[in-house]
Amino acid sequence: MKTLTSSGAGAMFERDLLQQSDSVATIRTLLDEYRFLVIKRAFDHANDAVSFLAQFGPINEASTRTDGAVIVDNQANDEVFRSDLALPLHKDGILTGFDVVLVGIYCVEFEQVTGGRTYVSDSERALTQVPESDVELLRENGLEGMAVDSGDYYREEYVAKWHHFPAFKAKADRAPSLHLGLPHAPGEPESWRLRVAGVDQRRSDEVLLSLRNALLDDEYVYYHDWSPGDIILIDNYAALHGREAFKAQSRKLANIQVVNS
Ligand SMILES: [Fe+2]
Repeated sequence: MKTLTSSGAGAMFERDLLQQSDSVATIRTLLDEYRFLVIKRAFDHANDAVSFLAQFGPINEASTRTDGAVIVDNQANDEVFRSDLALPLHKDGILTGFDVVLVGIYCVEFEQVTGGRTYVSDSERALTQVPESDVELLRENGLEGMAVDSGDYYREEYVAKWHHFPAFKAKADRAPSLHLGLPHAPGEPESWRLRVAGVDQRRSDEVLLSLRNALLDDEYVYYHDWSPGDIILIDNYAALHGREAFKAQSRKLANIQVVNS
């Protein structure tokens, strides 16, 4: 199968994948092999996507979410998360405190959009391009993160305070994988901040830049041009995702999270 990144991650399917009797087992196997999947025109409604994903484990039903999803659109002008601004590559759940194992991003509406692609990085393979000394520093020291967005989406104890967390985290029976969100580009409105713990700003910037260069290298990234009905399923312990800034009449994506049971 032709993968969506040159590094061998990502595979694209049509709706018929969901119509097989053993589609849940098949998708689990495909996710283990490809880290993320795109299913074109998969569902007619976000609720159908939520019901389907509920077969993989408990759906995150936090009070900031409605019917198992957060609709991310560009209507909220006072925050970065739900806006038309860029969101750097990240793993879901770090600043909300949920152990998210599987992320589904479903396209509800996409009209007259310029930019606004969702992109996914084959992060564990990309990590092989980061100097070993930088990876070692991340493993040893961990990271400090802070939520700066004005919405109520993040946990209160993470807002406006530096919070230490490991740069790698393991899911059962797996090796530890990257557990972070890259910092925003300089000057960009921020949803969060991130730095390497225990080193000066110069060294932190250097490590995060080498990480960013590897994660965003063409070899490891897939950019998705959305059509309504598409869903991207991402193993949240194997790949990172982000959003390009955009201008749009309407761009509505439903973020659905399966959490560790
Ligand atoms: Fe996300």
